[in-house]
Amino acid sequence: MRIAVLTSGGDAPGMNAAVRAVVRRSLVKGFSVFGVWNGYQGMVDGEIRPLGWHDVGGIINKGGTFLGTARSEDFKRYEGRREAVKHLLEHGINALVVIGGDGSLTGAYVLANEWADHVRELGGDGDSVLHVVGLPGSIDNDLYGTDMSIGADTALNHIVRAMDDLSSTAASHQRTFVVETMGRHCGYLALMAGLAGGASWVLIPEEELDMRWHNKMIEAIAKAREAGRPHQMVVVAEGARHADGLPIQSKEVCDLISKRLNINTRLTVLGHVQRGGAPTAFDRILATRLGVAAVDFLAENPEARHCHMVGLRENRIVFTHLEEVVQKSKAVVEELEKGNYQKALELRGTSFRN
Ligand code: F6P
Repeated sequence: MRIAVLTSGGDAPGMNAAVRAVVRRSLVKGFSVFGVWNGYQGMVDGEIRPLGWHDVGGIINKGGTFLGTARSEDFKRYEGRREAVKHLLEHGINALVVIGGDGSLTGAYVLANEWADHVRELGGDGDSVLHVVGLPGSIDNDLYGTDMSIGADTALNHIVRAMDDLSSTAASHQRTFVVETMGRHCGYLALMAGLAGGASWVLIPEEELDMRWHNKMIEAIAKAREAGRPHQMVVVAEGARHADGLPIQSKEVCDLISKRLNINTRLTVLGHVQRGGAPTAFDRILATRLGVAAVDFLAENPEARHCHMVGLRENRIVFTHLEEVVQKSKAVVEELEKGNYQKALELRGTSFRN
């Protein structure tokens, strides 16, 4: 087997550990392994090079992705994917490991399905198959088919550390802090940070808010102050929405608290710092387990046509067909947009339960 590995979409700490595991396990299994630089864009542009054991040395503890990543517009077009197939064929590649979020795994699914057509039109064997295994790589933890995606734990630790750091200055000034986290369509980071950081209130996209949510939040903060806690934290996921579907701006939450309670309130938008830095031990281990499992899956069933994502559910490695991953991950967002919160949570799977 000749395997290409790439990282795509927003980077996530632990992607390097995943690439390392894929490369080294492939070599152990006697496969040739290639790196694709800058995600699907590198595939379109032909930036594909062989990787050896030492090329992935000293990266398990590094954030970002040494292969580079991109959100490629070219790859979204059929002609762009044709170029990508041409370049994979030039290297005799017949298996692809993609590490990324829902957009990246959708790209992998589309490519796997179109592969034979492209190969035929390029004059090759129309019966040929591209085996695809996806690894969930996203700090948002918004993918169906896994309890945790690579990078989410590191991002969560950044947020909790920031909340801990903010609490001393907040307490000194008796201030309330509003902390905005990433998470376009998923409140995992905000909710878990709220639990771990002792927040008074958390706003996430998955919660159906009634018209009185402001009052409930204000009441919770007022109660905490009455109980003698000098400072409070409110966590707002960037994807949180009002009942009418309009985004909740963290600045508006901050102003509201300050006005209604007449207290000193400050806003901290954590932004891309959440995606940076060294991966936690959990993310390194998760990435390594998933990377090894992806290659073993390819090695163990060479005859089967693989089009799966490898994930972790209840601490066990599981494989879910990419079609299901892609459809259910998209369906969650659609249900959220329609205001069907319960349905969205059911579709989300195990990452949000309990
Ligand atoms: O999907 C990961 C993510 O970090 C989201 O949480 C965030 O909304 C988005 O990427 C930011 O994207 P960019 O790095 O392109 O600004």
